[in-house]
Amino acid sequence: VTINRADYTAPAYWIDTVDLCFDLDPAKTRVLNKMKLRRNTDLPVQALKLDGEELNLARVLVNGQGTSFKMEGKQLVLDNLPDEFELEIFTTTCPAKNTKLMGLYVSNDSFFTQCEAEGFRRITYFLDRPDVMAMYTVTLRADSTKYPVLLSNGNLVDSGKLEDGRHFAKWVDPHKKPSYLFALVAGQLVSREQRITSRAGKEHTLQVYVRPGDLDKTEHAMTSLMHSVAWDEARFGLPLDLERFMIVATSDFNMGAMENKGLNIFNTKYVLANQATATDVDFSNIESVVGHEYFHNWTGNRVTCRDWFQLSLKEGLTVFRDQEFSQDLCGEASARAVKRIEDVRVLRTAQFPEDAGPMSHPVRPDSYVEISNFYTVTIYEKGAEVVRMMQTLVGRDGFAKGMTLYFERHDGHAVTCDDFAQAIADANPQSELARLLPQFKRWYSQAGTPRVSAQGVYDAAAGTYTLTLGQNCAPTTGQGVKEPFVIPVGLGLLGADGKDLPLQLSGEPEARSTNGTRTVVLTQASETFTFTGIVAEPVPSILRGFTAPVVLEFDYTDAQLLHLLAHDSDPFNRWEAGQRLAVNRALSAIKSIAGSASDTGAAALDDAYIEAMRQVLRHPALDAAFKELVLTLPSETYLAEQLDTVDPQRIHAVREAMRQQLATRLHADWETVYAANHDTGAYTPDAVSSGRRALAGMALTHLCLAAVASGDPVWPGKTLQRFKDAGNMTDRFNALAALVSSGHSLAAQALQSFHAMFKDEALVIDKWFSLQVSAPDRGGNILPAVKQLMKHSDFSLRNPNRARSVISTYCQGNPAGFHRADAAGYVFWSERVIELDAINPQVAARLARALDRWSKLAEPYRSAAREAISRVAAKADLSKDTLEVVTRALAG
Ligand code: ARG
Ligand code: ZN
Repeated sequence: VTINRADYTAPAYWIDTVDLCFDLDPAKTRVLNKMKLRRNTDLPVQALKLDGEELNLARVLVNGQGTSFKMEGKQLVLDNLPDEFELEIFTTTCPAKNTKLMGLYVSNDSFFTQCEAEGFRRITYFLDRPDVMAMYTVTLRADSTKYPVLLSNGNLVDSGKLEDGRHFAKWVDPHKKPSYLFALVAGQLVSREQRITSRAGKEHTLQVYVRPGDLDKTEHAMTSLMHSVAWDEARFGLPLDLERFMIVATSDFNMGAMENKGLNIFNTKYVLANQATATDVDFSNIESVVGHEYFHNWTGNRVTCRDWFQLSLKEGLTVFRDQEFSQDLCGEASARAVKRIEDVRVLRTAQFPEDAGPMSHPVRPDSYVEISNFYTVTIYEKGAEVVRMMQTLVGRDGFAKGMTLYFERHDGHAVTCDDFAQAIADANPQSELARLLPQFKRWYSQAGTPRVSAQGVYDAAAGTYTLTLGQNCAPTTGQGVKEPFVIPVGLGLLGADGKDLPLQLSGEPEARSTNGTRTVVLTQASETFTFTGIVAEPVPSILRGFTAPVVLEFDYTDAQLLHLLAHDSDPFNRWEAGQRLAVNRALSAIKSIAGSASDTGAAALDDAYIEAMRQVLRHPALDAAFKELVLTLPSETYLAEQLDTVDPQRIHAVREAMRQQLATRLHADWETVYAANHDTGAYTPDAVSSGRRALAGMALTHLCLAAVASGDPVWPGKTLQRFKDAGNMTDRFNALAALVSSGHSLAAQALQSFHAMFKDEALVIDKWFSLQVSAPDRGGNILPAVKQLMKHSDFSLRNPNRARSVISTYCQGNPAGFHRADAAGYVFWSERVIELDAINPQVAARLARALDRWSKLAEPYRSAAREAISRVAAKADLSKDTLEVVTRALAG
């Protein structure tokens, strides 16, 4: 059944209060739900239809009296109701058998819930939609020994002993909320606690709950939470509105984390960290996910979504906020730029392909079969870019004013993306956003990545540089014709000395001239911008800071790109110039190999490129983190997107040959870089020392690659020693990864000792699995390794993190290992999707997306991939999650 945005109607009833009482038991949990309901008098009188799923219904009372009801599919339907009434529903469920991890489930003998988007209906019958907001009172009863900690949203108002070794806790949430923000947790947990005083002088208690034994991994999450509270107050004037704010970690979780009101539930991956078990990347992910969930307290919880088509209202905005938070915590401009480049890299390698494939959808979708399938990089990351463009168009202060107006208007309500954009525009009536609002909102309605083409003409006689910008967006599924977007384009012009020229647009008063970057706004299919007072031909730096989620096409010469790489004052475009140089070389090598995959275009990288990279590595002023980004070749996935027909083996062969060239030709520089960066002193996960560790790790990988080619034992030996001696997980893991990714024979021994060292650390064992299945494929060795690892006693299909660490990492993170000419990778994929679908449809449906881009593949991959998808689609009783993904794949 397809749900359409256009069919939205307000609910026929409102639920004002909910009083829930749980008797928690893994095999049979009893749920007593007493609600006060009221007819929505804006609508004609109609039946009350409550959502429910996998519930055993025992009793329904209206105003204390038995009543007649009927079932329509999964819905409980009540007729002839008074305008206001009390409804009491008694049901039972079996949390122990809940492998979908939606609703109430058991993980490591504790109870957890996940209700977004439609999990509350697996707990009790309800109007399970975000525009029904109610006040909740929750009583939890359970065995006091097995479940000493009983948590729910809001404030603890009562607790005590019951008979038979049981106890209870009663929680009242002072804020009304939609059902998807409900949560409970019960189990043997311990917590780190922190008292804080807000700017406004209010006291709050922050808590991070984990399993006993994990307390020494909670400091960073707590610090991140404290930073989040302070940041939201400082940047947006948004305070914490609860006396108590809790984070709880669970090792069985479908996604990253969940912003339940006052009781955030997290995947352990985004909470637990100490220097011995977590890498710099883990530390930084924890900071941004803790921030993300905390920021939802305003953008999502206080103001929520009217319906799930508006998901980006909260997700796009909250990703934007967590990106800004992480940047602001960096301090230094250069570290902010590194974070921006990382975010754009995610957008371009994950969202651009999504937007060009069968699952393409607008930031505000028009229809869905299963809403879980739309927690996507488009809703999240592209949605964040749309918010970022609004900030660019109204300015940072203007955006903060817009946020204030948004909360003035909509606090406590369930609203739409239109409401948000309107508030930002109305707070800035003189802005480009206000002037262009209806057209700007095409970013919400039109799917696809626009391509912006640029041509520059220098007129020496007139002293002008004329830039013509054009835009075009290819059709996407169901959207044949695209209207022009509003595209802010950050621009600079570099002189021969590499410095930015003053930018004076012709016909504009001199006062508006700016030095450095200025932003022009492209609104037409094609527009021309003429800059005056230009005395020599400049090199244009276009789309500085990546001001819009578009593909920029400009026919740069190598000389121009080398100039930008050496001098651009905009770090994003400086990095981008290096990427373009590498992409151009990779693509021409890929196209020139005559068929055979063994001929890898050995000389893909010319002297000019190598020398430019040498200059970057030797540069005295550039940050280590930035150097690491520049020296990282574009990923195989990114390269595939630049091609019309994709041969994954050929892409892999070329990229590996390029890596090998960087390793051998820059050997002495890698040695110098390693010597200069390998010792970062006492461990802290700050941006500067993380950058140095990343660059040192990259150097080690290249030194091992060169050693494998030359047979030199010295660097592999040193790498093994570093692996053994490392004082933190980042250095240890990087050393291990250098041995594994270079294919050195010492890798096996290091992997074995790594497993022995960390056998009780589930998150580290996940890394151990995924490192092995993401290694460069050598003669088809990865798939057999994957199958072998699935037989390991630590492997489990039921734990999402573990299943993903092997299966998703292989199918979605190792293109050459997966796309095999013998189709064995696809057969494996189809079997795992079917197997997982019976256990956990959300995890299965994510994995099902591994073949989204099948139609771009060269033969024999294309036909084999299609066949594998058809095999999955033909399976009876597929979940609607997986069915929607494979159906769209076959149709697109
Ligand atoms: N709202 C959560 C977040 O982004 C994600 C929850 C997704 N849950 C799901 N079942 N798809 O912070
Ligand atoms: Zn979110």
